[in-house]
Amino acid sequence: MLDRSNELTAWDRDHFFHPSTHMGQHARGETPTRIITDAEGVTITDSEGRSSLDAFAGLYCVNVGYGRQEIAEAIAEQAKNLAYYHAYVGHGTEASITLAKMIIDRAPAGMSRVYFGMSGSDANETNIKLIWYYNNVLGRPEKKKIISRHRGYHGSGVMTGSLTGLATFHNAFDLPRAPILHTEAPYYFRREDRSMSEEQFATHCAEKLEELILAEGPDTVAAFIGEPILGTGGIVPPPATYWEKIQAVLAKYDILLVVDEVVTGFGRLGTMFGSDHYGLRPDLITIAKGLTSAYAPLSGSIVGEKMWNVLVQGSDAMGPIGHGWTYSAHPICAAAGVANLKLIDEMGLVENAGTVGAYFRAELASALEGHANVGEVRGDGMMAAVEFVRDKDDRVFFDVSEKVGPRVAAALAARGVLGRGMPQGDILGFAPPLCLTREEADIVVARAVEAVNDILG
Ligand SMILES: Cc1ncc(COP(=O)(O)O)c(C=O)c1O
Repeated sequence: MLDRSNELTAWDRDHFFHPSTHMGQHARGETPTRIITDAEGVTITDSEGRSSLDAFAGLYCVNVGYGRQEIAEAIAEQAKNLAYYHAYVGHGTEASITLAKMIIDRAPAGMSRVYFGMSGSDANETNIKLIWYYNNVLGRPEKKKIISRHRGYHGSGVMTGSLTGLATFHNAFDLPRAPILHTEAPYYFRREDRSMSEEQFATHCAEKLEELILAEGPDTVAAFIGEPILGTGGIVPPPATYWEKIQAVLAKYDILLVVDEVVTGFGRLGTMFGSDHYGLRPDLITIAKGLTSAYAPLSGSIVGEKMWNVLVQGSDAMGPIGHGWTYSAHPICAAAGVANLKLIDEMGLVENAGTVGAYFRAELASALEGHANVGEVRGDGMMAAVEFVRDKDDRVFFDVSEKVGPRVAAALAARGVLGRGMPQGDILGFAPPLCLTREEADIVVARAVEAVNDILG
């Protein structure tokens, strides 16, 4: 127990502007404040002494689990020896250079360099700038539009919030901004024409993309960005043949592919990258979360060979690239990254995500698929979602005002397990640490069944 809880709660209400939080309700004390004090493995503990099994790994980021001393010690050692030096004009540290090498060694074929940032959002901002720079170097100043997907999530900045295809992240912020466009979400369960097979729906998505490119003019479209599996948009794996068909359209019109692996990078789908899992051939890859398992904030844009060669021509013609963050390749964060990637290998977490993830999803499906209000149980690797519907046969969704998803997530939390009520739709999401055991998976499933029965009967 933390004896300063009351004081901290008062300060929190009065001074802390929380992200993704109902500002008024929080300030007025109408919603709970939870002060987290410590954590170990898959369990977090709060100031009241209550423990929860964190089946969302924070925000799908604490991939190695909490309390890993190896990473804490690497951070402490780096802070003592060299807390900071910048990475401008060719400066590096043992940690940042080693980490760049480790990332490229693990990345899909054809990847060349890593530009480090602090968050998934700033890495995608970097990507957008690199895409524009690339087309300017190639003498194609008109080729600048970027196509994202409805329900994609790519960050909360001005441009990355525009890439994001979820209304909550646009409303009252004057987003999305040009030149960002959105195309069909690869969301088979929510397809309009229910007679379509997965393959037919994938063809339909690729046709929609091609229609948009042709309507805008292929010479104006620079890039397409997507998560291998939709994350915040509902944890939705792509329908069969989707990526192959999308990549064929992109290749036809010379459009770059940015694969946002902020969630899937470093093991979450049971492969080192989601690109390996779904046969993607990216020009740029976004990484963050799993790179340090959130022990320190660090992200990266992995640049493929083809783009890198053009970027180099740019600086040969125009001088050093005018893009830099003070904290790019921060040594403390890089040291956390090196220790984290080693730990992922040593603990066999990529394999565990595949095997225990498959077990977890199968158990969740067999426990909940028969429920009258469960429309679909889906996922891949160590990611799963349960989507609730009012009427299963006619696929009628609940009204948003009923808050079914958030209520099930709250009922689950009350039982000591944290999932996430996904922001759009009545969807309970899971993305546990990759070290989850079968016994822990059983607990998550048992509590989820109780929570669903509690709210939906
Ligand atoms: C796929 C994806 N891209 C980008 C981001 C943005 O990362 P950050 O919140 O670190 O800015 C997220 C965050 O959840 C994400 O899921």
